[in-house]
Amino acid sequence: MSNQALAEISRIIIDERQPPQALQRALDDYSRLCSQATGIMPDPGFTKWADDTFLAEGVAINPQSAAYCLKDYQRSINYIRGIYAAILDLKRRTPADPVNILYAGCGPFATLILPLLVNFRATELNLFLLDIHQASLDSVRKLMTFFALDSHRITLIKGDACRYRHPQTLQLIVAEVMQKALEQEPQFAVTVNLASQLSDGGIFIPQAIHIALCLGHWKEEKKACLEGKAFFTEHLYSSHLRHLVADILSLTPTNAAALHKQASYSETSGKYEINIGRVCIPDIDRLTTFDALLTTRIEVYRQYTLNDYASNITLPHKCYELSPLRAGTCFRVCYQLGSYPKFEFTPENSLQD
Ligand SMILES: C[S@@+](CC[C@H](N)C(=O)[O-])C[C@H]1O[C@@H](n2cnc3c(N)ncnc32)[C@H](O)[C@@H]1O
Repeated sequence: MSNQALAEISRIIIDERQPPQALQRALDDYSRLCSQATGIMPDPGFTKWADDTFLAEGVAINPQSAAYCLKDYQRSINYIRGIYAAILDLKRRTPADPVNILYAGCGPFATLILPLLVNFRATELNLFLLDIHQASLDSVRKLMTFFALDSHRITLIKGDACRYRHPQTLQLIVAEVMQKALEQEPQFAVTVNLASQLSDGGIFIPQAIHIALCLGHWKEEKKACLEGKAFFTEHLYSSHLRHLVADILSLTPTNAAALHKQASYSETSGKYEINIGRVCIPDIDRLTTFDALLTTRIEVYRQYTLNDYASNITLPHKCYELSPLRAGTCFRVCYQLGSYPKFEFTPENSLQD
């Protein structure tokens, strides 16, 4: 029965013709069934840091908060569809072989892959689910039974995706351990560690994360977004409501290791930092009415992308440290590694030789 329910949820999620409400309902159904089976209730847990794990490379959020990620609907849909497309692509290449998949940071509901399993025979995939929280793995174990997926080849691994070495090469690696602007969670370190473990021609999801600095009207944009107005960033740029200051960083599985090698120790911050370069505030009309925003765009896989405001993890991040905006002022930008990774802006006039 639960397997049939999962099949129906999966059918809706991967059907491109379904309206947003039906997709949301399918994810809510999945969430409800998962909670029923495991006792874990999704909870944004903004104030509940107690069960988070503070790693040297970022915060691994607790199981209840990780379950809540499912409710970031557009994110969940695009990732699930992107992963499905990737698995089908890999299967087309070598139909006789099982696809070896590592899903790092699976959380308690393994949301991005578990609903897809009903579309594959048990022997078609070797799935490795990795999380730092044992409670999440225990939860997934219950879901495997609840959804009658026990015959699938699923291995649960408790470990740190920033350090984990898989014994064989992998055809597909999935890691969604991030917040907007690559802040707080260890997506960067996880990508650095895992990308090198892909087989030739393997697929890493997400394929790219692009961070840019722009000037926009944060409050108005957020308000329009909450009111459900269709949001096209191209429109914001073409009508001069947004100005691109600089593309800051693109993180891909191919450039992650090289970026990491560039990191050097800063005496000032006591952290390793990747020097990105300098940005200068442009001289534009009504400059002081703008906010400096770090934007995030995610290429999940193929056509599946997440642009500004499409999901919680691609919401613009206001850079208060650049205010008040003054034309011609320049900042050194770096990506600071460590237990709370983030972008840092330092005014050039405060830098010493
Ligand atoms: C943002 S949640 C995503 C949950 C789920 N994958 C989803 O997309 O709905 C991140 C998950 O990754 C786990 N995690 C974060 N950093 C990790 C690390 N370095 N090693 C293993 N697990 C990690 C957290 O415990 C949490 O379950």
